[in-house]
Amino acid sequence: MSNEIDNPSANTHIQEVIATRLSRRGVLKGGVAVTASTLLGGVSLSACGGSNDGKAALALNFDAVAKNKLDLVTVPAGYQTRILHALGDPLSLTDAAWANDGSETAESYERRVGDGHDGMHYFGLSETDSYSANRSDRGLLCVNNEYVVRPYGLHASGRTSGAARVAAEVDKEVNAHGVTVCEVKRDASGSAMSMVRGSKFNRRITSATPMDFAGPVRGSNLVKTKYSPDGTTTRGTNNNCANGYTPWGTYLTCEENFTNVISRAAGDNALRSAAEVTALNRYRLAQGTKSSYLWDTPVTGNADDYARWTASVTGASAADDYRNAFNTFGWVVEIDPFNPSSKPVKRSALGRFAHEGAWPCNPVAGKPLVFYMGDDSQNEYIYKFVSKANWDTADIGRGLAAGAKYMDEGTLYVAKFNTDGSGTWVELTFGKNGLSAANATYPFADQADVLTHARLAADSVGATKMDRPEWGAVNPTNGEVYMTLTNNSSRTAANTDTANPRYYEDLKGATTQKGNVHGHIIRWREAGSDAAAVTFAWDIYLFGAEATAAANVNLSKLTDVNDFSSPDGLWFDKNGMLWIQTDDGAYTDVTNCMMLAAIPGKVGDGGAVTAASGMPTLKGADASAATVRRFLVGPKDCEITGLAMTPDRKTLFVNVQHPGELGSLATPTSAWPASQSDAASTKRPRSATVVVTRTDGGEIAV
Ligand code: FEO
Ligand code: CA
Ligand code: CA
Repeated sequence: MSNEIDNPSANTHIQEVIATRLSRRGVLKGGVAVTASTLLGGVSLSACGGSNDGKAALALNFDAVAKNKLDLVTVPAGYQTRILHALGDPLSLTDAAWANDGSETAESYERRVGDGHDGMHYFGLSETDSYSANRSDRGLLCVNNEYVVRPYGLHASGRTSGAARVAAEVDKEVNAHGVTVCEVKRDASGSAMSMVRGSKFNRRITSATPMDFAGPVRGSNLVKTKYSPDGTTTRGTNNNCANGYTPWGTYLTCEENFTNVISRAAGDNALRSAAEVTALNRYRLAQGTKSSYLWDTPVTGNADDYARWTASVTGASAADDYRNAFNTFGWVVEIDPFNPSSKPVKRSALGRFAHEGAWPCNPVAGKPLVFYMGDDSQNEYIYKFVSKANWDTADIGRGLAAGAKYMDEGTLYVAKFNTDGSGTWVELTFGKNGLSAANATYPFADQADVLTHARLAADSVGATKMDRPEWGAVNPTNGEVYMTLTNNSSRTAANTDTANPRYYEDLKGATTQKGNVHGHIIRWREAGSDAAAVTFAWDIYLFGAEATAAANVNLSKLTDVNDFSSPDGLWFDKNGMLWIQTDDGAYTDVTNCMMLAAIPGKVGDGGAVTAASGMPTLKGADASAATVRRFLVGPKDCEITGLAMTPDRKTLFVNVQHPGELGSLATPTSAWPASQSDAASTKRPRSATVVVTRTDGGEIAV
C-alpha cells in the first residue's frame, strides 16, 4: 500500500549529526575520484568471507517481459499462470462461492480469503502434518491481507457514506484484514498448485482475533485496556504489510499502517500526560484524528466492538476504556500455521513502528538469530533485533515455544549509515545511549516504553532517516542484507545524504514529481559476516529509474529489459536469485507494476558515483540484461507485492494487490483476475495470489 506519511521529528539527517569524514564539497571541489576503498574506510571487507565465489554461476534464463499496461499478469514465454485464491473465495466447503455482488456476510469472512494480498510464505507440510522445510508438493501458504482495497470489492454498492458507518460493513472490513492460511497441494500432473478447500489448516486471522502479548511490553501499563485490564492480551492484527518467517517454521506478519484504523477525540490531550501527548503525536495520532476507516462510528451492534477503535480517555482508568488501543498495534505477530487453534503472539521485543516485515539472518547453530526490519514511512529508520538465545536446530518445529525462546529476549538496534560507507547499529536498551527518564526527546520509563516508542528512541540516538524502508532480504549465499527504499517525495535538495543521495525532478506531463522519485535498494555486509555485529559496510545495490532518464538519475544504467520504479517487495530464493517487486505511481504512465529477477553481486562491487543532487555515493555494479531482468508485469492499477516459492523452485506464488485501484464500482478500470481468462469479463477486480509455473514443469527463471 502506498504511504506518504513523513517522520515529523526534529531529528536531523545524517550529514548534520555525523562528523563528515568525506565532505560533499571536498569531493566535488577537489574533483577527487571517490573510490570504493575510500567510502568503505573503517570496515574491512577482506575479513567478511562468504560469497558466490567458487560456486557454479547462477544465470537468468528467460525472455524479459515487455513493459505493458494490459489488464493481465504477463509472464515470459514458456510460463503459465493460474489463480490460487482471490478476495472472498471460501476456505471451507460450507460457504458459497464468491458472488461478485458483495452479498457475502461479515461472518463468512472468518472463513473467506481476505482483501489486499501482500507478504506471504510457503511452509512445506509433511505426511504427519508437521513442518517439512524441503517439501514442495504439499504445504501451507500464509498470505497477509493488508487492507480493504476498494469497498467495491467487498460491499454490495461500495462503502455506505454517512458520519456513522453501517455496523455490518465495518464487521466485514475487520474480518477481511489480517492473514489467510491455507493448505496448497501440487497437482499429480505437474508443478502447479491449488488450494485445498476444507483443509483443517485453513484459517483466517483477522482484526478481531484474540492474541497474546509477549516480551517486555506484556503486562505494561501501556497496553492495558478494557479488553485486557492486565495488558497481556489484545484483539486483532491489521494493516499486515510484508512478513517474515522463522527458522523454526512459524509465520511473522507485520503491522504497518495501523495509524489508519484508530481515531482519537478532540480535547484528549488535556486528559493525558505530556509524555503521552509526545508519543501519540510522534506516532501521528494527533487529538481530533478521525480514522479513514471510521470503524469507531457504528451506532448499532455490540458497542465495545467499535469503541475499541478510539484511543481516547473516556473512563476512570486504562482498564475502563481504550486509551491504549493505539499501542496494541504496530508489532510483529507470530503465527503457528501448523496449529490452527494456536493463539497468535505479538512479539514486543522487536519494537513498535510501521513494520514492513521481519527477515531472519541465515541461521548459524550456536549463534544468536537476527531479524532485520524497516519502518515504512518517509524518513523513518532501519532496525534489527538480535536474540539472546543462540540458535539450536533442535527447535525446528517447536512453534510458538521456540518463538518465546528466540523473540522475547534480545536487543533492538537502529541503523546509522555513515558518509564513508560504514555503518553502526545503535542499541535501544533502557538505561543505555541516553534512553532514560532524563532523555530530552521523551522521558523513557522502562524497556517497555523504549519498545512501544521505538521511533522516539531512534530519534534520540541520531539514527539515519531513510527513503521509506520497505522489504528486506538476506542473501543466502553470503549473508548480505538488502532493503528497498521505495521512494521519498519529502527528500529535499538540502537533506540528501550518501545513503539517501537522490533529489531530482521527474516531469510527468503537467505533474512534476520531486525527491527520490524512483527509489533505490541499499545493502550492507555485517562486520565479519556476523549478523549480530554492531558495525557494517554498505553500498547502494540498484537505483530505480526510467531507461531514458539522464545518466545522473539512471545511475545503475537500466535499459528497457529491466527499468523500474519504486522497488518494494524483495525476496531471495534459495539459490541466491533476488526478486524485486514494484509499487509505483511514477512510471505507471508507461507500465503496470512488475517483478524482476536479479543476480546481485556483493557490497563494494561497483564504485563511486554522484547523484543528480550533487551528493556522492557508492553504488553497486551497473545493471545489465544478464543481472537484472523483468519477469512479470501485473494488471491495471495493481501493486505486485509478496512472493514465495516451493523449495524445488518449480512453483512460484506472486500476490497482486489492488487491481483497478483507480476505478470505482461505476467505472471499473480492471476486471482482473477474471480478465486473465476472459478478456470480456466485467467482474469486480480483486486482490489475488497467482501461481506461476513453467509449462515444462522446470525450475523458475534458470
Ligand atoms: Fe504496505 Fe510498506 O507497503
Ligand atoms: Ca509500497
Ligand atoms: Ca510494501
